[in-house]
Amino acid sequence: MISRIDFRPLIAKSSRRSEVPSASWSGATTTRLGALTTLGVGGSADVLCRPASVAGVRHAVTSAVTAGRPWRVLGRGSNLLIDDAGVDGWVIDLRRLSGITFGDDGLVTVGAGVNTSVLLGATRRRGLGGLECLVGYPATVGGAVRMNAGGRWGATGERIESVVVVDRDGAVREVTHDECAFAYRSSAFARSVIVEARFRLPHVDPEAYRAAVEEIQTTKAAAQPLQMRSAGCMFRNPEGLSAGRLVDDAGMLGLRHGDAEVSPVHGNFVVNHGSASAADVFRVLDDVRAEVQRVHGVELELEVEVWRRSGT
Ligand code: EPU
Repeated sequence: MISRIDFRPLIAKSSRRSEVPSASWSGATTTRLGALTTLGVGGSADVLCRPASVAGVRHAVTSAVTAGRPWRVLGRGSNLLIDDAGVDGWVIDLRRLSGITFGDDGLVTVGAGVNTSVLLGATRRRGLGGLECLVGYPATVGGAVRMNAGGRWGATGERIESVVVVDRDGAVREVTHDECAFAYRSSAFARSVIVEARFRLPHVDPEAYRAAVEEIQTTKAAAQPLQMRSAGCMFRNPEGLSAGRLVDDAGMLGLRHGDAEVSPVHGNFVVNHGSASAADVFRVLDDVRAEVQRVHGVELELEVEVWRRSGT
């Protein structure tokens, strides 16, 4: 039984009451999803819910499937570009899955909604390291695992022992590291909801680790526009190349439509100066892709996930 406190729905005014299960729902809202993303663009969902437990996630997924509605999972919205018209169906916001439990031998069990910066701080205070790859990533643990977030300092999957997921039929499964199929910015979790991740972290010298983390922070702050609203890197790196450098070499830094601009600091970031629309961002991306194709003969592929209403 899912209690009201466990399962907090926000329902867009436009949604049909008939698709909403009765007792556990309340209120009406037109919450803009853009406000829940780091880039800050995008319209509303028909239904937005915030489960606070694995049982709540199961309830949300099976309710959406039973209603025949599409559903999507929202972490910290740091790798997301949402269309101005928003999305149809249900958005399941995981940020209330926020527990961190410490076991023996560096085992850390983390809710999918925990911010990576919170996880970094909590593990560091326990003398645990190994999460250099997450420094400066504005993500939730679920998103970082799903995207196998990382870069020069390693990738999230390297520290994962297992992951707990909810499948579309509501089944809860524990997936071992080898079954996660971690690869460059990808994993096996396109169709399941990650609800918990188990990391195995090494004990480290606290001072040496602190110095290493600070150095990464300084290096990233010099090379990436971390103070601006963005969705991080917009394009995947083509094999052996840096998308950011290709954009830079094509002379596209500073290209701007409305309040969306190719960051003058790093060519793979599009920053929002305040009131950018998704349409502005799409125009910037289209221009960048066309120019990189023209200058370098390379087709850039989006890394960021795009959400739109079906049929648009
Ligand atoms: N470069 C330029 N101009 C630019 C951008 C980069 O000349 O506008 C050069 C850099 O000077 C460097 C090279 O290109 O010599 C590579 O750049 P960088 O080190 O920034 O790495 P990247 O390949 O562009 C990747 C990840 C980042 C991650 C960094 C650092 C992808 C798509 N990007 O970027 O991840 O922070 O390594 O580890 O894999 C993200 O996933 O959102 C993200 C930002």
